[in-house]
Amino acid sequence: MRMLLPLFLCVGIAAAADPAPGYVGAATCGKCHRTEFDLQPKSAHAHTLAPSAADQPGDWAFGAGSQAITFLRREDREHYRELGQTWYRELNGYGLTPGHRNLNGVSFRLFDADARILRCFACHSTGPITLGDDDRVIPHELGVRCEMCHGPGSLHAQDPARNHPRNPGRLPAGGVSTFCASCHRFKLETGEELTDLRDPRNSRSEPLRLAASACFQKSNGRLTCLTCHSPHAPLEQSAAVYDRACGKCHPAPRHAAAIAGQSCSQCHMPGIRTGNLVFRNHRIATYRPEDPLVPVNADRH
Ligand code: HEC
Ligand code: HEC
Ligand code: HEC
Ligand code: HEC
Ligand code: HEC
Ligand code: HEC
Ligand code: HEC
Repeated sequence: MRMLLPLFLCVGIAAAADPAPGYVGAATCGKCHRTEFDLQPKSAHAHTLAPSAADQPGDWAFGAGSQAITFLRREDREHYRELGQTWYRELNGYGLTPGHRNLNGVSFRLFDADARILRCFACHSTGPITLGDDDRVIPHELGVRCEMCHGPGSLHAQDPARNHPRNPGRLPAGGVSTFCASCHRFKLETGEELTDLRDPRNSRSEPLRLAASACFQKSNGRLTCLTCHSPHAPLEQSAAVYDRACGKCHPAPRHAAAIAGQSCSQCHMPGIRTGNLVFRNHRIATYRPEDPLVPVNADRH
């Protein structure tokens, strides 16, 4: 068995006797952290990678299905194919995979320079990725689980008082965003990061967009992803909960027109559509209904 480094930023290969040194798995964390252990499996993070079910195509299903599920099929020793048909919740059925031109899918070499296939697994699973004797990709733990965010926990589990795990909640505001952005950002196929805020593909780069908001820039580090999202819970669906977060800093916003009965985030964080996917604009600002991407006063920022 060969081991690939857990870091998606530098996927490499090494030989190792223990395929996942230091990793103990979510169940071990759960012995002492019952609350997080009971809650986190309900989140999309925990279900973002699974073997394809009997009624699904391919070998691997990527995406928990909040919006979509894309499939990979192992073709031979060197190739995995990203299938052309993606399941969309909005359609309750199949449509073209984002970025694909037809339904044939696209075949990728496992060890090409961009490591596209290995990177899929690196962001959607926890711990190091290993390769079987036949070069089959073997993720250590499915989904984004405890040790993806808190680091390998064996020393902590042995002696919690002396060995503290990583707690991203203790990072400064910009640090939380940067941490979440290790996965939550859009990159081109060349691996280059896309930073143009007017490109709708960047709608999924929530950290990049939030950082461009006056709310973030002018609140002295008080606004982080954790102001509005619990890292262990499923995505909150109630608009009122997000409105309360706005209210902490905007207790009495003044409006020219009536806003009663409508939620703050609906107008100030509108949904941006690309194909069958919709992401909320995390660049909090004022938008015209016909342009949810670029704020009314974009020139002034
Ligand atoms: C044997 C019990 C035990 C196990 C197993 C355990 N923890 Fe802990 N954990 C604790 C205790 C006790 C504390 C509080 C330590 C302190 O405050 O000194 C703690 C604290 C934490 C903190 C807060 C650290 C901070 O600085 O804010 C995190 C995060 C955490 N654990 C994550 C995990 C994860 C992830 C796992 C599995 C890899 C895990 N724990 C396994 C007992 C355990
Ligand atoms: C290891 C990569 C990784 C890290 C780190 C990460 N995420 Fe995620 N996150 C994902 C993936 C993958 C999904 C897609 C889940 C799915 O399949 O729908 C996701 C989905 C989400 C969702 C949407 C859940 C839903 O139900 O649609 C939220 C909110 C979220 N992440 C917030 C965060 C925050 C906040 C942080 C930082 C504290 C963070 N994430 C760190 C990979 C990551
Ligand atoms: C840099 C980390 C990263 C890489 C690499 C990555 N993903 Fe994701 N993926 C995410 C995050 C984060 C989300 C959550 C998107 C969101 O809701 O903002 C996600 C969401 C998804 C979803 C749910 C639908 C959607 O777009 O929200 C699918 C399907 C998916 N990824 C498939 C793949 C496949 C297939 C690959 C490899 C070709 C891949 N991902 C590579 C981080 C990554
Ligand atoms: C997507 C990243 C992510 C995942 C996955 C994750 N955590 Fe956390 N965890 C965080 C963040 C961020 C905080 C800080 C929350 C805050 O300060 O509001 C945190 C805080 C904690 C704490 C400290 C709570 C406190 O009250 O101080 C514990 C314990 C913990 N996590 C355990 C776990 C366990 C156990 C799992 C797996 C079942 C897990 N976490 C999965 C990101 C994550
Ligand atoms: C941590 C505090 C904080 C939170 C939470 C917050 N904001 Fe702000 N927001 C600010 C600050 C500070 C400014 C800048 C005010 C100024 O320029 O005088 C601002 C500016 C704005 C502006 C004007 C933007 C511009 O480009 O001129 C709007 C609109 C806004 N916020 C709406 C919201 C909404 C809606 C929410 C909830 C989804 C929210 N804010 C959450 C602190 C916050
Ligand atoms: C001021 C509140 C607020 C902050 C701060 C915030 N979000 Fe969100 N987020 C939302 C709202 C509102 C939604 C839409 C919820 C829904 O679909 O009902 C959302 C949705 C999401 C989703 C689901 C996909 C999408 O974009 O619609 C992800 C992933 C996400 N946020 C990640 C993050 C990350 C990462 C950060 C930190 C960089 C962050 N959010 C900061 C309010 C916030
Ligand atoms: C129906 C859409 C709509 C809703 C709902 C809405 N806003 Fe606004 N908001 C606007 C528009 C349009 C403007 C700019 C023009 C104006 O003053 O009416 C604005 C302006 C603002 C400003 C900037 C004012 C300034 O001084 O520049 C803040 C802050 C703000 N809104 C916060 C909120 C908060 C918090 C909520 C939820 C309680 C909310 N808004 C709900 C449309 C909305």
